[in-house]
Amino acid sequence: MSFEDLKEFQGQMWGAGPFEEVEVHIADMHDALVGALAPEPGESWLDLACGTGAVAMRAAAGGAETTGIDLAPVLVETARRRADEAGLTIDYETGDCENLRFGDGSFDIVSSSVGVMFAPDQETAAAELGRVCAPGGRLGLTTWRPDGGVGEFFKFMRQFQPPMPEGIGNPLDWGREEHLQDLLGDSFELEFKELDTPFEVESGEKFWDLFSRAFGPTKVLADSMDEADREKFRQAVIDFVERERDGDMIRQSRTYLLTTGTRR
Ligand SMILES: C[S@@+](CC[C@H](N)C(=O)[O-])C[C@H]1O[C@@H](n2cnc3c(N)ncnc32)[C@H](O)[C@@H]1O
Repeated sequence: MSFEDLKEFQGQMWGAGPFEEVEVHIADMHDALVGALAPEPGESWLDLACGTGAVAMRAAAGGAETTGIDLAPVLVETARRRADEAGLTIDYETGDCENLRFGDGSFDIVSSSVGVMFAPDQETAAAELGRVCAPGGRLGLTTWRPDGGVGEFFKFMRQFQPPMPEGIGNPLDWGREEHLQDLLGDSFELEFKELDTPFEVESGEKFWDLFSRAFGPTKVLADSMDEADREKFRQAVIDFVERERDGDMIRQSRTYLLTTGTRR
């Protein structure tokens, strides 16, 4: 698969389900990210890999002049509709965070919530974060820890997926401080904090119902299988989630890194 075909596939994959139904389960992460960046009215804010607009809406509600970019056209449409419904003015565009159309230093704040980590060319994506952020401007990222619940779920899914093409970065590397220092340390003075956004669900079956319908990567993988393999995958997902059962509920710890930075 060529790099461009991979991007096309990824845009469709992320837009394959109503991500807004998954997004609500990481709302405390969005609050933590926007709280750490504390926008002042009139500041310019770029949210990269914005999905259905959770961070952009919080930024705009806080008074920032907000732009959101995402690879998946369907998610951008949803984000636009939600901003209209909420009476918020946000510039949304479909785009690739590895290749931004904005000039150097265009934004006071640049953010990405579990988003830019999925760009296949990590050095290029990181360089774009630094390029479009104004000197003295702020960076805010959230990225899944490799050994947290979501990190483990991505690793678990890999055994059912075709191997990634050569040269594609591992998204979970963005959950390690040393890797972020390597990628971003020349452009930003960085600070790190580990946080958790636990997910509570009644059963593995309920988890499967949500993720195989609304979470693009799981839905596209499940839909690519014949009936027998899909059933094996479904049962494996249920078993994976049920490991965390505690009485009536399953409580999955999902640790992530909140990284803030000041542009040098
Ligand atoms: C897990 S979702 C997070 C969405 C949103 N930031 C949130 O926290 O609700 C990952 C998002 O990254 C987007 N994405 C992946 N690769 C991208 C790229 N190269 N450029 C822009 N967006 C990308 C996907 O389309 C998807 O919306």
